[in-house]
Amino acid sequence: MKSGKRFHAVILSAVAVALAVPAGAQTARPHHQHVMRGQSTTLAATPPMGWNSWNHFAEHVTEADVKAAAAALVSSGMRDAGYIYVNIDDTWEGKRDAQGNIQTNSKFPDMKGLADYVHSKGLKLGIYSSPGPKTCAGYPGSYGHEAQDAKTYASWGIDYLKYDLCSFIPIMQKQSNGDPQKAFEIEKAAYQKMHKALEATGRPIVFSMCQYGWNDVWKWGPDVGGNLWRTTGDITDKYDRMEQIGFSQAGLSKYAGPGHWNDPDMLEVGNGGMSFDEYKTHMTLWTILAAPLLAGNDLSKMTAETKELLMNKEVIAVDQDRLGKQGDRVWEEGPESVWAKPLSGGAKAVGIFNRAETPRTISLKLSAIGFGQNAKLRDLWAHKSVQANNGVYTVTVPKHGAVMLKVSE
Ligand code: GLA
Repeated sequence: MKSGKRFHAVILSAVAVALAVPAGAQTARPHHQHVMRGQSTTLAATPPMGWNSWNHFAEHVTEADVKAAAAALVSSGMRDAGYIYVNIDDTWEGKRDAQGNIQTNSKFPDMKGLADYVHSKGLKLGIYSSPGPKTCAGYPGSYGHEAQDAKTYASWGIDYLKYDLCSFIPIMQKQSNGDPQKAFEIEKAAYQKMHKALEATGRPIVFSMCQYGWNDVWKWGPDVGGNLWRTTGDITDKYDRMEQIGFSQAGLSKYAGPGHWNDPDMLEVGNGGMSFDEYKTHMTLWTILAAPLLAGNDLSKMTAETKELLMNKEVIAVDQDRLGKQGDRVWEEGPESVWAKPLSGGAKAVGIFNRAETPRTISLKLSAIGFGQNAKLRDLWAHKSVQANNGVYTVTVPKHGAVMLKVSE
């Protein structure tokens, strides 16, 4: 399964260069007009939370795995902590019938039954497709069947669609005769088309755009109906990749808000490829980024540490804060950085990160994040109050680790 994922990454980065459009050439509307259009304004009012099959199960996922994930969301307490969406990624798709209706393959014998099961647990069901004729894993995509597929999803009771560019890329290239600007317009139209098709079903279906962050998607994602859009290529269960993706999100905060979120990809927490401190950095950064929190591990086999990382209610509250503001980098020096996220009520969540190979003692000046000497500090991983001295909070952060604070007046 790992080699399949690497294949995706190589193919996608090769065509990225060919299709990139200079930022100035785009015609996105100014950000203040980026309000939710079309679908209900409560859809994805806070960043979607749930689980997705890809990071752990990849192309091997079956109905039994999805049911087990739904059951585990409930029994572990994750559902009650906010993880609601159960998202089937690629490889559920079967052939089309004589009328062109998409069918499931033998791994998913009864999608409507699965949706009923997931709904009976107080959860929602997500699915995956592509604007191209094939998905990234080579299964049928929605090309030429957009309205039909949207209706099928609605009839099954689907609540979330991840729409992955993949095989639409050669179509964009061909139809545009290699003109990147034309290719870009064709891509936008394809996303808009599926958004309209979903909207026409009358069922609220979260629309997740997956085109790897090309052409500054954060500037136009809301205009084509995206509730979230991937800002990068695929994450892997390695510190270096998670670090590269997470810390590259500086400067994107102004593009996110209720109903439209930047998506630095799904979580790898609990998959085993990172240390506890590295996963803590992953959660701290993703929640400060108001990122969608889609667990990507095997929920039926979770250690106490994995549960602690995924279900820290104070940390989740940062991600889900009703103000809906994404955090951003406020300071960086070498491997040390501080990121802050405004919260409702005037507080801020603050991440203090150490990307070095050894522990570092880092001093945070409260004035640098807009607070005076008497501000109150709470360590959200340690669940305790901590003290600043003369307006400076000094803490030792482990190698690749993070400290997360809530600061309030
Ligand atoms: C692409 C996406 C991944 C996953 C796979 C499925 O690589 O970016 O998140 O959906 O396709 O094939």
